[in-house]
Amino acid sequence: MEGKDIIILGIESSCDDTSAAVIRNGILLSNVTASQAVHEAYGGVVPELASRAHQQNVVPVVDQALKRAGVAKEELSAVAFTRGPGLMGSLLVGVSFAKGFARALGIPMIEVNHLQGHVLAHFIKEAEDDHDQPDFPFLCLLVSGGNSQIIKVKAYNDMEVLGQTIDDAAGEAIDKCSKVMGLGYPGGPIIDKLARQGNPLAYSFAKPHIEGYDYSFSGLKTSFLYSLRDWLKDDPDFVEHHKTDLAASLEHTIVDILMKKLRQAAKDTGIKEVAVAGGVSANNGLRNAFREHAAKYGWKIFIPKFSYTTDNAAMIAITGYFKYQDHDFCSIDLPAYSRVTLK
Ligand code: KG4
Repeated sequence: MEGKDIIILGIESSCDDTSAAVIRNGILLSNVTASQAVHEAYGGVVPELASRAHQQNVVPVVDQALKRAGVAKEELSAVAFTRGPGLMGSLLVGVSFAKGFARALGIPMIEVNHLQGHVLAHFIKEAEDDHDQPDFPFLCLLVSGGNSQIIKVKAYNDMEVLGQTIDDAAGEAIDKCSKVMGLGYPGGPIIDKLARQGNPLAYSFAKPHIEGYDYSFSGLKTSFLYSLRDWLKDDPDFVEHHKTDLAASLEHTIVDILMKKLRQAAKDTGIKEVAVAGGVSANNGLRNAFREHAAKYGWKIFIPKFSYTTDNAAMIAITGYFKYQDHDFCSIDLPAYSRVTLK
C-alpha cells in the first residue's frame, strides 16, 4: 500500500466481553477477547459485575492485542471504540479508556455504533486475498441478545432498518426459555447443542402475527413457559426426559419466525445478497436455514466466522477503519449512550 499505513485499535466493552483488536490497512492483525464467567452463577449479566471486570481486563486485553499484532502504540493512527448501545457501566470503561489512550498518544478517536459494527463484521479481512464480502446493497439479519433487526445495508455508512423486534430479541427469548428449563446461561449454545439431537416438530409454540418486517418474541416465550408448566404438572422430570425435543422445537420456531420476515424483505426489495450477524448467528439451525434459502431462492449468503458473531473488537476496528477514511472523528467530550438505533 502506498503512503502511511492506517492502523486502528478497536475497543469493545458494551456488555460482558472486553475485547481489543488491531487492523492495519483493513487487514486484521489481532483480536483479543476476555469473556466474563462471573455471570454464569446468576443466569444473566449483572451490570455492576460486568463493569468491574471490564475495569480489570481492559489494560491487559489492549496490551495483548498490540503485542500479538506486533504494533507499538506510537504507530496507531486512531482509536475506535463502542459508544453504544449497551450497558452504561460497561460502555463507560471502554469509552473512558479510549479517550485517555487516544489523548495521551495525540491521535484521533472514532465512535462506533455497536450495531453497525456487527453488520460490518462481514468486511473483516484476515488476509489480503480474503474477498468473500457482500456487495451493496445487501440485507443483514442482525440477531443477538439485545437485537433482532432486518437491515438494508446501502453502504458502510448508510443503513436502513426495515424491521425490528417490538419486544424481546431472539437471543433473549432463547436465553429466557433455557432459564425456565433450568439449563443454564447463556442458553443459546446449550439449546443449539441439544437441538441437534431432537425432533424440531415435536412441539409447537405460538408464532406472532405482526405487520411488515417487525418481529415479536414475547408471545413465544409466554407460550413456552405455560406449555412447560402444564407438562411439568403431569411429569416433574419432563424437561429431563424431553430436553432435546424441547430445544429442537424452540429453535425451529425461532428460526421459522426470523426467516419468514427475511424472506419477505428479500422478495420485496429484490435483494439476493443476504447476510446474518450477531450472537445468534452462531446457531446451527439458523445457519442451515440460510443455506437452504440460498439453494431454494438463489441467495448469495454471508455467514460470519464464529469468532466474529459474538461481541468482538475486530468489528469495531474495521468500522473505525472505514470511518477513518471519511475523517469521521469525534471529540473528547462525547458521552456513551446506552440506547440507540442505526440511522
Ligand atoms: O451478539 P451477542 O454476543 O451479544 C449481544 O447481545 O450484544 O449475542 C448474545 C446472544 C445470547 O442471547 C446468546 O444466547 C446467543 O447470542 N447465542 C446463541 C448461540 N450462541 C450465542 N443463540 C443460539 N445459538 C447459538 N449457538
